[in-house]
Amino acid sequence: MKKIVVTGGAGFIGSNFVRMLLRKRSAAKVIVLDKLTYAGNLDNLAGLNKDKRFKFVKGDICNAKLLADILPGADIIYNFAAETHVDRSILEAGSFVKTDVVGTYTLLQKTLEYKVPRFLQVSTDEVYGSILKGSFRETDPIKPNSPYSASKAGADMLVRAFYKTYGLPALITRSSNNYGPFQHPEKFIPLFTTNAIEGMPLPLYGDGKNVRDWIYVEDNCRAIDLVGRKGKIGEVYNIGAGDEKTNVYIARKIMELTGADPSLLTLVSDRPGHDRRYSVATRKIKALGWSNKTAFDEGLKKTVRWYRQNENWWRPVRDGSFRKYYRKMYTGRLKEGRKL
Ligand code: NAD
Ligand code: DAU
Repeated sequence: MKKIVVTGGAGFIGSNFVRMLLRKRSAAKVIVLDKLTYAGNLDNLAGLNKDKRFKFVKGDICNAKLLADILPGADIIYNFAAETHVDRSILEAGSFVKTDVVGTYTLLQKTLEYKVPRFLQVSTDEVYGSILKGSFRETDPIKPNSPYSASKAGADMLVRAFYKTYGLPALITRSSNNYGPFQHPEKFIPLFTTNAIEGMPLPLYGDGKNVRDWIYVEDNCRAIDLVGRKGKIGEVYNIGAGDEKTNVYIARKIMELTGADPSLLTLVSDRPGHDRRYSVATRKIKALGWSNKTAFDEGLKKTVRWYRQNENWWRPVRDGSFRKYYRKMYTGRLKEGRKL
């Protein structure tokens, strides 16, 4: 039986990935290592404990001793664990450097020591920076603009260096913006969906015309699984659906799907250093045999339906520390905001 270690498996993409693995790979044992930060949630893995092939370990990827208990004998490690929210990285960058850079370094060091035969670093298209026309290829230089993307870029550089210097068998995926079930309600699509359901304002940054290429989380999970199994060691694979949308387009779609009052849409002051557009060329992942299955409008419909049907999942998450964060980020901006 294959031993698969998934760090950050209690987060949004990691938990979708773990469910997919257990569904598709009957001969796999999956160990999730997760620190359970504000973004990690055991409810994301509800029900999986009944499966004998699944094990959850609470812990930090910076903890080398703990890694020594978990990594020996692993066939592959998928590193999803990270601080992931750009806005939070602008408020406080230290935890991003710690987990995304030092945590990845610690994992690499132990992967080497225990001779794990495959290591997949889950990275992001944000490491390339913003591009107004065309799409970034895997060979393009990286130019991150936020403390989050700089930390992820630091991790990518370490992965590359460990491959080049020590021959560590590593792969990197760089995907575009994910959306779908179990995404923390602080991120754009779930924030707008849950605010719309609650009848609260939808705070659009800047002019609302920033562009992201949105990929349904299950499509990204299939791509990561494919790279994990068939990707060439030492290579980087971009992953994107090619579904570029402005934020204002998405906000209007969410209002349509939830029946929210259009006056809720509010332009607020912009995110500092806000990248205008992300876009990645995906020829390489397609050549490996991947294609996107979920068109954006269909995926968004499914996602909004999921949030409508799973209030018991997101209501507790929007309590406590979320409220504090929300007040800090939005109260002043919304007071000064203007209707579109
Ligand atoms: P998320 O914030 O939902 O989940 C991150 C998980 O990592 C949480 O469960 C958290 O508890 C855990 N974690 C944080 N610090 C840890 C530590 N020190 N040790 C162990 N666990 C820790 O993030 P996500 O959106 O699911 O993203 C997962 C990965 O995919 C990240 O590496 C992110 O950079 C990358 N990524 C995300 C997107 C996206 O659109 N969400 C796109 C491209 C790449
Ligand atoms: O591109 C991949 C990246 O996508 C991942 O690496 C990150 O982990 C993930 O968080 C995401 O980063 P973004 O900054 O693109 O996602 P976010 O959901 O924070 O914002 C999406 C867009 O929506 C962005 O242009 C900012 C805008 N936005 C966001 C929020 C939270 C708003 O206009 N209002 C908001 O309140």
